[in-house]
Amino acid sequence: MPALVLLGAQWGDEGKGKATDLLGGSVDYVVRYQGGNNAGHTVVVGDQKYALHLLPSGILSPGCTPVIGNGVVVDPSVLFSELNGLNDRGVDTSKLLISGNAHIITPYNVTVDKVTERFLGKRKIGTTGRGIGPTYADKINRVGIRIQDLYDESILTQKVEAALDGKNQLLTKVFNRRAIEVGQVVEELLGYADRLKPYVADTVLVLNQALEQDKVVLFEGGQGTLLDIDHGTYPFVTSSNPTAGGACTGAGVGPTKISRVIGILKAYTTRVGSGPFPTELFDEDGDALRRIGGERGVTTGRDRRCGWFDAVIARYATRVNGLTDFFLTKLDILTGWEQIPVCVAYEIDGRRVEELPYSQTDFHHAKPVYEYLPGWSEDITKAKSFSDLPKNAQDYVKALEEMSGAPISAIGVGPGRDETIEINSFL
Ligand code: GDP
Ligand code: IMO
Ligand code: MG
Repeated sequence: MPALVLLGAQWGDEGKGKATDLLGGSVDYVVRYQGGNNAGHTVVVGDQKYALHLLPSGILSPGCTPVIGNGVVVDPSVLFSELNGLNDRGVDTSKLLISGNAHIITPYNVTVDKVTERFLGKRKIGTTGRGIGPTYADKINRVGIRIQDLYDESILTQKVEAALDGKNQLLTKVFNRRAIEVGQVVEELLGYADRLKPYVADTVLVLNQALEQDKVVLFEGGQGTLLDIDHGTYPFVTSSNPTAGGACTGAGVGPTKISRVIGILKAYTTRVGSGPFPTELFDEDGDALRRIGGERGVTTGRDRRCGWFDAVIARYATRVNGLTDFFLTKLDILTGWEQIPVCVAYEIDGRRVEELPYSQTDFHHAKPVYEYLPGWSEDITKAKSFSDLPKNAQDYVKALEEMSGAPISAIGVGPGRDETIEINSFL
């Protein structure tokens, strides 16, 4: 049994942590392939709640090896505090593997993220301020620092010098900040080397050998399709590729190995940060979704923007990821509405448009065309099978499936592991 990718089909926070955890017991490896601690993945196990930022959610499944792939950006201080937090709660983290090729989020990357946002003013992206964009920028500019650089002080010093040469000019002359000292950064980074060492591995080799031995590898995306640097609502995106192709580059596994691509899809829509969002609600329905759905950021604590389900986006996610399945989450949150609007198309400058427009201008002008589906009032949180759902909830799911272009193979009716209706097995 080969590799599966599990990713966000909207703007993040769809419930990837819960879905990964659900499969964690049946897979051998869970791999993060992009992003960093901008992610906030919630896993609820019994009465315990975990918020994971950098570590793959598979770390909570004892039989599973968690892997941080080469495509991830790693802030070592965050990694250590996350590991400490889990160890304090009795979670064994000793199996963790981290790619030596993963890039490090340095303190100056975090500084640049924050000052850039401040200078953008009202045009800001609304980043998480964790240094994600500047770290990927350094990687692409070939002045990034990789985990393996921590084990050669001379190379590390040269690389930090190269990275800071230009940045210090920018910081002092444009952003009016103090220059950052090479020696101080090198010292801080070297301070992480010993503790990181046992985890550092050639993860590309490990994962490919595992696949050759018929082990099951699950790739856990961060963020979501519409936050993808290539396929999202640029420039209001993150700086990596959460879409399915990112799993290949971000872990060094060929596309021929991937047999299943599961899109995690919330039964309504949320977004954090700036950028267009056609079905966004500014009324009491939006407030109700936020309140009932607990829509507050796991990483930044910001309120999430809320809106109705958008089938145009779901279809787009199916296309750019080659989705084989959807996992529909948070259906329980929609209980109690008499009618539930679903966006089936957009109206853009008087025209009806069925597919996501590639033009940013058009997308900014897109107004949702709604169909109104009958709601339900019964509590569905105890439902174990599709037939346990009230008829209108079943019809809502079927309608979404038809509009979205891939089968809905699981439905979330609560945050816990067990609060899931499995329709088709993922494994
Ligand atoms: P992620 O970033 O995609 O992992 O999602 P987040 O953890 O940021 O946000 C999803 C939130 O919804 C978390 O609080 C989850 O515990 C919760 N959640 C996930 N699935 C369901 C579900 O089916 N029903 C309910 N009520 N909550 C869910
Ligand atoms: P998970 O994995 C929701 C958003 C930020 C901002 C934009 C760029 O929990 O779904 P960045 O710090 O990445 O440069 O910010 O992306 N963003 C997320 N939104 N869920 C996330 O992760 C996100 N990670 C980044 O709010 O709009
Ligand atoms: Mg999240």
